[in-house]
Amino acid sequence: MNHETRGSPEVLGAVQQSGRLMRWLNRRTGVRNLLHEGLAEPIPGGARFAYVFGSGLLFIFLSQIITGIFLALYYVPSADHAHVTVEYIVKEVAAGSFLRSIHAYGSSAMILLLLLHITQTFLYGSYKGRRELLWLSGCILMALVLGMAFTGYLLPWDQKAYFATAVGTNMASEVPLVGDFIKRMMRGGAGMGTLTISRFFVAHVFLIPGLIFAFMAAHIYVFRKAGAAGPIHENPVRPRMQPQPFYPRQVLYDLAFSAALLIALGLLGHYLPFELGPKADPADAQYVPRPEWYYLPMFQWLKYWPGAKAVIGIVVIPSVIASLFALTPFLDRGLERRPWKRPISVGLYSLTLLGLIALGVISNRNDRRDPAVLQQLARQEKATADFIAAKFEPEEASRTGVPVLSPELEKGKALFSSLACNACHRPDGGGTAAGAKLKGLGKSQDQIKSLLLTPTKSMVAGGMTPVQQPDHDLAALSAYVASLK
Ligand code: HEC
Repeated sequence: MNHETRGSPEVLGAVQQSGRLMRWLNRRTGVRNLLHEGLAEPIPGGARFAYVFGSGLLFIFLSQIITGIFLALYYVPSADHAHVTVEYIVKEVAAGSFLRSIHAYGSSAMILLLLLHITQTFLYGSYKGRRELLWLSGCILMALVLGMAFTGYLLPWDQKAYFATAVGTNMASEVPLVGDFIKRMMRGGAGMGTLTISRFFVAHVFLIPGLIFAFMAAHIYVFRKAGAAGPIHENPVRPRMQPQPFYPRQVLYDLAFSAALLIALGLLGHYLPFELGPKADPADAQYVPRPEWYYLPMFQWLKYWPGAKAVIGIVVIPSVIASLFALTPFLDRGLERRPWKRPISVGLYSLTLLGLIALGVISNRNDRRDPAVLQQLARQEKATADFIAAKFEPEEASRTGVPVLSPELEKGKALFSSLACNACHRPDGGGTAAGAKLKGLGKSQDQIKSLLLTPTKSMVAGGMTPVQQPDHDLAALSAYVASLK
């Protein structure tokens, strides 16, 4: 397409008014052409609300990156620390629960938007007319987004995360020949633990996002190369309808939609903070795992394929559906785009979608009809609510018996050994022949601080010298001594 014919008066006007800085920048970067190229994209038939879902996906992806970076500032990917660090984010960090909720609900939003984006482009036949690679890159992006949802779900390491991921990784072992290998690769061993968390973490934070960047770039590039497909009456190869540039109408629609998304996520995060349950307890045989809504259909589907038949349900049928779906633009070659003239492809698509919805509804209904399951689910909900209501008590011993300390106490503990206090007092607060017992002193942090600054006669007699340390170190050390119980 000829670039000169693409310009709209608005775009050129906006770019030309931008003044000296812009000129300076433009001579060095060509940013003006870039902007022009980006904003002047012609849309046959003009802007529409139906086209906003792709931009919505891009927007939520950016939001996920920003909130994800914030979460990564606090998160520690290990079986001993993952849960307590997420608890710290939820209970202690300013706006932590809010930002975590936006991130967690953001994954649901992405999957919802994916469904809408795919449904819109499918119904509009927007994969037709030299858009095979556009569709294929979209399919890969969909798999990657589902991968993000799957890997992110485990990271809080609460009961829900643990048991849902146990089910999810178990499914992999149904793949013939290599199934067990795949499962072990995902888990980093036969069972689930720190290695599983770090693998999921690396996939969630480095690997998959990197691939998403690459495929998003490819997706947008081939989209621009083929041009917007326009409405269902438009010829997808040689557009005839009066085009309208991307800027300003479509940009405004896209921005309005993104703003609405952000407001919806904000309201959800504020009024319905995303839940965090008690720490994963692999020994809990009672726990009834239930995946997030988007994995519920798959979860229900598995139940129809017990034992030896599992490979058909888990591997064969999904692979056939996925291949048919990915190869749609190669199989459905005609240029006809009106959905009612494409009964086979549109029929198959609608059937699959309705099937998924039905599976989700059935799973939900089965749960509500089984009193034992209902009771257990209610117990789990109560445990989650109690856990969230409980105060954050980091000094509580973790399941491994190693106490988990707040950063301040951790520092105090380190000083306790670097200042050689443990030469005469035991690090757990017990006494030795050379020094008194420190646990359960019943003294406040301030009282201990002044004792350390000016030891009593008997302390001096016992060999203790006044602690000469910067005030914040002294505070951390006395907080640590005061915390010994
Ligand atoms: C050379 C041995 C020695 C070292 C090293 C030492 N202490 Fe002591 N500390 C003692 C003795 C002995 C007492 C008990 C004196 C007494 O009976 O009143 C004591 C008492 C204390 C008490 C008061 C306990 C009470 O009953 O009120 C505190 C608090 C204390 N030590 C903290 C520390 C800290 C913190 C360090 C490291 C900076 C440290 N000590 C290093 C020997 C030591």
